Amino acid sequence: MTEALVVVAPEQFAAAAAATIAELVLAAMAARGHCTLALCGGATPEPVYRLLGHAALPWPRLHVFFGDERAVPPASSDSNYAMARRALLDHVPVPERQVHRMPAERADRADAAAAYAAILPDPLDLLLLGVGPDGHTASLFPGTPAAREQHQRVLAVDAPSPPLTPAVARMTITPPVILAAREVVVMVRGADKAAILQAILDGPQRPAMLPAQLARRGTWILDQGAAAQLQQRDD
Ligand code: 6PG
Repeated sequence: MTEALVVVAPEQFAAAAAATIAELVLAAMAARGHCTLALCGGATPEPVYRLLGHAALPWPRLHVFFGDERAVPPASSDSNYAMARRALLDHVPVPERQVHRMPAERADRADAAAAYAAILPDPLDLLLLGVGPDGHTASLFPGTPAAREQHQRVLAVDAPSPPLTPAVARMTITPPVILAAREVVVMVRGADKAAILQAILDGPQRPAMLPAQLARRGTWILDQGAAAQLQQRDD
């Protein structure tokens, strides 16, 4: 499995990730006239999205989706959508009809997940992911049925209880969506992720227990702290 690693100093992390994403968005647009991009949540991407918003991209040709969402109102401080709006979408001219929020707060979350799967492009042009301290990605948590799902593309799930995660009930893309995406960019920063990243990228392939391994073929943007325990790779 030959993943592409981009390891940078912490102060260069956001710029390196934003540049990689912008390059892949432009490549998709050159190839197909538009780009379908799925955003991830959490804390890592926010500074990346702020810088991305300054890129000279054909924003009206971008279609935005989400890889996962917490079951909270769209204005909640825990909402991945709220973070993406604050950091990026409120500052770029992507038409509202082309921003597809994941309605995880709906009472009929399972039905809402099926409805979201119906509008989620297959494949996505570009999928952004983060990695949690337990090796989860999107809201695919180790050892859960969703981490082993092979058919449904979006599921309503429950995350491990707080404080590990901001909200228990969530909605998430599943392994088939990650595996089918034309391009995947995984953003991981911080020495606290070094051990789990070593297991993910240097350890045996066991994606049901380390769901972030589903993205191994992607481009991994790491800061030096997160990459500290990785084996040396031939350039
Ligand atoms: C979420 C994210 C989740 C995130 C990881 C890493 O809803 O929280 O989609 O998968 O990417 O938990 O989060 P940090 O970037 O905050 O470490």
